[in-house]
Amino acid sequence: MMKTIIYTIDKDHIDMEKIREAGRILADGGLVAFPTETVYGLGADAMDGEASKKIYAAKGRPSDNPLIVHICETEDMARVARDIPEAAYKLAKAFWPGPLTMILNKSEAVPLSTTGGLDTVAVRMPSHPIARAVIAASGTYIAAPSANTSGRPSPTLAQHVIQDMDGKIDMILDGGKVGIGIESTIVDLTGEMPMILRPGYITRDMLTRVLGDVCVDKAILSENADKNFRPKAPGMKYKHYAPKGDLTIVEGAPDQVVLKINQLCARAEAEHKSVAVIAARESAGKYRCRHVFAIGSRRDEESIAANLFAVLREMDELHVDVIYSESYYDDGLGQAVMNRLLKAAGHHVINADD
Ligand code: TXA
Ligand code: MG
Repeated sequence: MMKTIIYTIDKDHIDMEKIREAGRILADGGLVAFPTETVYGLGADAMDGEASKKIYAAKGRPSDNPLIVHICETEDMARVARDIPEAAYKLAKAFWPGPLTMILNKSEAVPLSTTGGLDTVAVRMPSHPIARAVIAASGTYIAAPSANTSGRPSPTLAQHVIQDMDGKIDMILDGGKVGIGIESTIVDLTGEMPMILRPGYITRDMLTRVLGDVCVDKAILSENADKNFRPKAPGMKYKHYAPKGDLTIVEGAPDQVVLKINQLCARAEAEHKSVAVIAARESAGKYRCRHVFAIGSRRDEESIAANLFAVLREMDELHVDVIYSESYYDDGLGQAVMNRLLKAAGHHVINADD
């Protein structure tokens, strides 16, 4: 166990003394967790192969799952990538700094231990002021996966990072709750057509408006993905986010879903199981079950994205055996939410109308 330094930082009045200390730890090959606008990241010097290897150890992450390299200026893209297509500059102009990651051909300078052995590299320029200050202070580029133990929900609060990383990393910067709550959109620009590998806050429509046609990796919403098509983002093939309790998604007409979930809850409780329901604010009051979590409003998809991971972690704190969730599918941000929820449920979905 190492002693983890934990500092609270106000993102509107950043204490540069603490940021400089974080920058020094990173420049010396250490690990620092910090908030970004999507989720908390676990940072190391991306250009130092030994430093990025420490990330894999702290997270228990398979070494073939590449890391995202975080930069703080668009010019830095040309340091970590080569043969950069025009599309990358267009997307950078439209969405950086912000929750978009681009897959590009990697430059010689980036070690293979950062890219999981691939000759492509994931590049992102975050907008969160603490993330930007930390990257700048390090004087290098920062490899940062989500700061959770591999397989657990991504952290949206410093408390989540502390649960998973205390004693394993050098420093945690607590900048409060993150804004978006799900990880960045990943778009691959190394193929013939831009392809979304992971849905996020930047939707397909938003990308299409800048680039024209954009396709979506078939692996994103399909269960068979894992067997039939190999997802292009290696991380998308792993079991993810799953709470310890058995999570089932119930879809169908709203009234039928309420009926079905109430029946399932009654049955599980009769078997002396502890049960929780994850529902939209609009319908949460209709469930007769002890633990009902109102995750956000259907009229405000962003509220659902912002609370999803925290709710999944709370399931583990409550030690519930069985969890039923409503379904939130939609085209925009809803697709990103459902991608995470389906993974958390191991694609276990039932239809209330059957
Ligand atoms: O919002 C985010 O992107 C957060 C914050 C901290 O920036 N980071 C994050 O990193 O979500 P991580 O490591 O949890 O997810 C990175 C994903 C994985 O699925 C990985 O396989 C994929 O990006 N990836 C990284 N490099 C890649 C590459 N060269 N080609 C294809 N996929 C890649
Ligand atoms: Mg992750």
